[in-house]
Amino acid sequence: MDFSKPIIDIIKQRSSWRTYTNQLLEDDTKKKINQILTFKDIKSPFSELAGKSRFELIGVPEFAPDERKKLGTYGLIKGAQEFIVGAIEKSDYYKEDYGYILEVIILAATDLNLGTCWLGGTFNKNLFSTKIHCQKNEIVPAITPIGYTTETRRRKEKVIRAFIKADSRFPWSKIFFENTFSTALLRETTGRYEILLEMVRLAPSAGNKQPWRVLKEIDCDNYHFYVKTSQDLKLKVYNTFVNLDIGIAICHFDLTAKEVGMKGMWKFLKPDTNTPKELKYIITWIGR
Ligand SMILES: Cc1cc2nc3c(=O)[nH]c(=O)nc-3n(C[C@H](O)[C@H](O)[C@H](O)COP(=O)(O)O)c2cc1C
Repeated sequence: MDFSKPIIDIIKQRSSWRTYTNQLLEDDTKKKINQILTFKDIKSPFSELAGKSRFELIGVPEFAPDERKKLGTYGLIKGAQEFIVGAIEKSDYYKEDYGYILEVIILAATDLNLGTCWLGGTFNKNLFSTKIHCQKNEIVPAITPIGYTTETRRRKEKVIRAFIKADSRFPWSKIFFENTFSTALLRETTGRYEILLEMVRLAPSAGNKQPWRVLKEIDCDNYHFYVKTSQDLKLKVYNTFVNLDIGIAICHFDLTAKEVGMKGMWKFLKPDTNTPKELKYIITWIGR
């Protein structure tokens, strides 16, 4: 995927947008989006193990008038006239793969100055699944509105963002570790990896829960990626999204590594570490 700006700038530019202008996309913009959606070489480190995915641009006018009232965005999304909807075959790593690929699409839309917002929960799954003729072996894990944004966010959106502290992220010491999960990885010791990890930190996540944890091996550039789930009844709802979230975070790391010319490979290992029980291992970056 070619972006017009550095990926680091696009990652910093992206933020969820829930207030749109009611306009349909212009034909040439629609054409660009459709080209992005059919781009065959968006591959994630999970693609070999996951099933096939496909994405479509669906306009609100394509829904019957009674269906338009049931899109299920519960008043959270206002004025959006188009959505990107994807389906992926149920398989190992389907959420990680979908997370990675839809984030590439969202970053490409951001590059075109369009607004987007990951929606994993607040959409009518049945309606959107029917609309893209979802097969029995397929699933629609998340969608995004896509369109022209209003100049400022409406009040309700500002309240939502303040509630989930959407503009802030955990400090490095809470999510990046060295050798053991009780030793924080010091930012100033990470050298060329600093920018890659910072791009992970800035990634969006469901409810802004930021479930990714990264453990660096001492004296080498092996970075093990984990997800943290919660036992708290109120937060358990977010556990279903952690595999999408890690796919997004790995997308940021991977695209940034490619852009800055860092060499390495992704491997599924069994790291020999004392892992807290709320953490689940996902994948490792082996830097060269
Ligand atoms: C996998 C995933 C699912 C999400 N689901 C929803 C959702 O159902 N409804 C919603 O309003 N926002 C949803 N979000 C958006 C997050 O709330 C948002 O990314 C987070 O608060 C950080 O804000 P930012 O995207 O502006 O950086 C989701 C984000 C992710 C990554």
